[in-house]
Amino acid sequence: MFEHLSATKMDPILGLMADYRADPREQKIDLGVGVYMNDRGHTPVMRAVKDAEARLMELEDTKAYQGIAGDPRYNELILELLLGAQHSAVAANRVRTLQAPGGSGALRVGGELIFRAKPNAKLWIGVPTWPNHVPLLSGAGLTIEQYPYYDIAARKINADAMMETLRGVPAGDIVLLHGCCHNPTGADLSKAQWDEIGDLALERGFVPYIDTAYQGLGEGLEADAYGVRSLAEKLPEMIIASSCSKNFGLYRERTGSITFVSATPAQADIVASQAMSVARQIYSMPPAHGALLVAMILGDDQLRSEWSAELDEVRERINAMRRALTERIQQNDGGLDFSHIQQQRGMFSFLGISTEQVDRLREQYGIYIVSSTRVNLAGINTSNIDYLAESMRAVLA
Ligand SMILES: Cc1ncc(COP(=O)(O)O)c(C=O)c1O
Repeated sequence: MFEHLSATKMDPILGLMADYRADPREQKIDLGVGVYMNDRGHTPVMRAVKDAEARLMELEDTKAYQGIAGDPRYNELILELLLGAQHSAVAANRVRTLQAPGGSGALRVGGELIFRAKPNAKLWIGVPTWPNHVPLLSGAGLTIEQYPYYDIAARKINADAMMETLRGVPAGDIVLLHGCCHNPTGADLSKAQWDEIGDLALERGFVPYIDTAYQGLGEGLEADAYGVRSLAEKLPEMIIASSCSKNFGLYRERTGSITFVSATPAQADIVASQAMSVARQIYSMPPAHGALLVAMILGDDQLRSEWSAELDEVRERINAMRRALTERIQQNDGGLDFSHIQQQRGMFSFLGISTEQVDRLREQYGIYIVSSTRVNLAGINTSNIDYLAESMRAVLA
């Protein structure tokens, strides 16, 4: 049987990571991989997570199955983190949240649910987007359409073209949006743009599907939720996939959630039952550990403030690197304008340099950047920033 298979192509980011590991140069820099790194180039376990793990070790007295929707307390607290304490859709009992295996598992459950509800609905994805959106969601059976999101040459959101395409999206289709910290560009929708999209969704009848994988890494936990909260205020239906991989540093624990906003409480119950049936068919139940930690952190004043303080540090470090990189590339050179890096948010930025320049940075200087020119700002630290800026200046000269 297996002779009918041929090997799949390696994911370009994983390929880049392998090349980076094999590179013997001491000064090499990895700006490709999408995880947070501290100033020592390490992806740490957050302090609140360590503390919660110690408590959980004491308290946990069973590993019995937890249920298809995961930990109810986690679901309740994650929903509060996403929509705030007193959201009108929650008060109206129109919202249901299920724990899912990471943001990726959440996205897939949402995709499968859409396919069950409306197999002919098209899913509109911005260009560019996180490359895994397409396999994850087309794998659920959905037909993918594209809308323009970012203008590489102008180094900003292509707002006119985006809105023009969205104005043509038929009622009942789904539009995928990034809640904050757009991956790969770092270019986020403004409040006014969120408002405009919300009004258009209401008028046209399309359903937003918001992927929020970086809440707290852009401008803060509350500000980063503007899009999800405002659209959930306005619209009868929407879907939100969320991840605790980045903001809790729980990557390998596969901790995420999928939230459905429905028109009525009765429909919300039906949607939740269908989503549970989807989960049952593909993985049965989500892993417990990460969600138990998140529930413990969010439900405890001391752990919660420890966590949000560390998240503030993470965000501030990334923003400090944004500022430092921009200043150092532009230093004494009126011709180089990289101010867009400072305006972008989250872990990523699109540098907007050429593919040849990306190749030269890797070949001559051991600086690894994905070909789209997306850089992970968290790969920059006080020890490598001078070398990085000098190399970039040499390549851009
Ligand atoms: C935009 C976006 N969505 C979802 C995810 C999924 O995160 P995970 O499955 O690791 O929780 C990521 C991870 O990089 C992402 O960048």
